[in-house]
Amino acid sequence: MIAVSLATANHIIAECWLLATFSEDQGQTTRRFLTPPVLQVHDHLRQRMNALGMTTHTDALGNLRGLWQPHAESLRIAIGSHIDTVPNAGAFDGVLGVVLALELIRLAQLASLPVAIELLAFSEEEGVRFATPFLGSRAVAGRFDPALLQLTDQDGITLEQAIRNFHLEAASFGPASLEAAQLHPRTRAFLEIHIEQGPVLEAEDLSLGLVTAIVGQTRCALNFLGHANHAGTTPMHLRRDALAAAAEWTLAVESIAREGQNLVATVGKISAQPNAANVIPSQVQLSLDIRHSDDAVRAASLRQLLDRAEAIAARRGIQATCQTLLDQPAIPMDPHLADRLAQALADAGLPLRPMTSGAGHDAMVMATRLPTAMLFLRSPGGLSHHPDEAVRPADVANALHVAFLFLQRLVASPE
Ligand code: GLV
Ligand code: MN
Ligand code: MN
Repeated sequence: MIAVSLATANHIIAECWLLATFSEDQGQTTRRFLTPPVLQVHDHLRQRMNALGMTTHTDALGNLRGLWQPHAESLRIAIGSHIDTVPNAGAFDGVLGVVLALELIRLAQLASLPVAIELLAFSEEEGVRFATPFLGSRAVAGRFDPALLQLTDQDGITLEQAIRNFHLEAASFGPASLEAAQLHPRTRAFLEIHIEQGPVLEAEDLSLGLVTAIVGQTRCALNFLGHANHAGTTPMHLRRDALAAAAEWTLAVESIAREGQNLVATVGKISAQPNAANVIPSQVQLSLDIRHSDDAVRAASLRQLLDRAEAIAARRGIQATCQTLLDQPAIPMDPHLADRLAQALADAGLPLRPMTSGAGHDAMVMATRLPTAMLFLRSPGGLSHHPDEAVRPADVANALHVAFLFLQRLVASPE
């Protein structure tokens, strides 16, 4: 019987806090895709993987990968989560799943479990730098469309250039390296362990939740095109103000989402041109993120929001256009793996709490490629995408214990 101590859990938490110091900004955690602090995270994790006897490499999309392979013919599975963050992030979103996986591999080694484990530290999940999420897991799952290489970041750097800068070896990047990033075909299952990022487990005083499905999401860039003019001389009724239109539409997004059942929609990013106090704004770009567990409801709500944008624009004599950056369907987790996780929870004497994830995860991309399971830990205060994001040591210990029991069950009956 493998016991997971609170000391182990506290060590995992301390590691997450350490990784949170590798940041683009002093005093807060911001680590976007392929930025310099990612290299510091890689160095740290690589050392830890090597210390466990794992072989490591970084793939074409900058995912750090480590392989523990006790026997060439063992059952092979993959475990992981992401190491990029939102701006001013907490320490646990994504990173916890990677650090927990390291400890899980250590436990598997101690118990001589005949299982090969690939640890995937995904480079990009949040969609912050290129406004498009899951770039790392898409490559691993074989779902990476090379057209994505032409995406640009806020500095006009293309994804392809960012990759070349990161690897510092331009010649080695191309279709072959993208191909090589794909998951080994013998991999039988993927497991992601993640904080819930919501209030449900805490409200029910539960340590862990079993994810049965992940909601679908659409991300778009909305553009309102008006006309700049002098702020002092242009009467109010003769303006074509793109920012006023964007503000009106933002409020419409909020009220339409409130009217929907379990619909969430967010305008999280805004930029205005020319962005000067005495000029009527000529152009505004907004992000839209809309999610629902039913893809048909998501599609219909999106249509409603876009119709509203067009109506607002027409009334104000301006133009509204929309570019879709992501259309990710809702996806169920694998029912057989979910059963095994449920059994592992029972083995650990913990209650079963099936739940749908409102947050997006690499697991939703991996699930398009192979059987995938996901385990949630309670989020104190229901807080995430915030520097006060936290986890409780007892929940971390439970998650590690359940993940180990899950591994044992997989090894015992891999079919
Ligand atoms: C990732 O955290 C997302 O759900 O946007
Ligand atoms: Mn995450
Ligand atoms: Mn996140």
